Amino acid sequence: MLQVKNLYKSYRTKDIQYDVLKNVSFKINKGDFVAVMGSSGSGKTTLLNSISGFIPFDKGEILLNESNIVNLKEKEIANIRNKKLGFVFQDFMLLDGLTIFENICLPQIISSKNVASMEASANKLCEIFGISHIKDKYPAEISGGEKQRTAVARALINNPLLILADEPTGNLDSKSSRAVIDAFIRAKNKLSATIFMVTHDSFSASFCDKVIVLKDGKIYKELNKNSTRSEFLDLLLKTLKELGGDNNDNE
Ligand SMILES: Nc1ncnc2c1ncn2[C@@H]1O[C@H](COP(=O)(O)OP(=O)(O)O)[C@@H](O)[C@H]1O
Ligand SMILES: [Mg+2]
Repeated sequence: MLQVKNLYKSYRTKDIQYDVLKNVSFKINKGDFVAVMGSSGSGKTTLLNSISGFIPFDKGEILLNESNIVNLKEKEIANIRNKKLGFVFQDFMLLDGLTIFENICLPQIISSKNVASMEASANKLCEIFGISHIKDKYPAEISGGEKQRTAVARALINNPLLILADEPTGNLDSKSSRAVIDAFIRAKNKLSATIFMVTHDSFSASFCDKVIVLKDGKIYKELNKNSTRSEFLDLLLKTLKELGGDNNDNE
């Protein structure tokens, strides 16, 4: 599904080159819910943005369903972003002037899809995420948890290969964080969605199938859940403790 091979990325200022990702390789299968963890500055956002095609990288390959996103033209990258990727942002970015239903439809309005099929997809997502009864309301009129489910539904409307989320629970209390994670789990179970989420929250990450831990731009550990969630949580906490430094950053 997603394969990252020997990825290198540096940022250059006038006279210094700063290496951020140093030979990162991993693979994600369809239907996996994956978290990326690591201290502040370890390269999590840089990794996610490289996969999104938002920033160029130095060396390596990123294959999305076998096709390489390296060396694509700006227009082709925009096309992949719109059709093959879904994004969930930290502050959800629902448009206040649009109804819940219209917000969910937005990515399809942009790609000018057929209206009947767009509405059918949006209605199906409203059902899956339990928000059919509020679809004609505006974001200001619904609860936090409903907003988060709307944002996840919107990310799914183009039936993306992969959902990318950078610290989606970063600004939320624990109850709202649970609503986001529950929405991802629903997307995985009901739609076989594949989710790649950066998080510093071990509790949220403990619901994932796999956790990639970055340290100084390298993969420190790749942990697969083959036990209960609470045992996996213990393993995550132990691993982050080994990393040392500050893992409780609230970026
Ligand atoms: N646009 C940029 N230019 C220069 N340095 C950057 C830029 N973006 C991030 N960095 C640096 O790269 C490192 C990794 O950043 P980032 O990927 O945002 O880490 P994380 O998301 O894990 O906190 C940090 O040291 C950061 O300061
Ligand atoms: Mg970050």
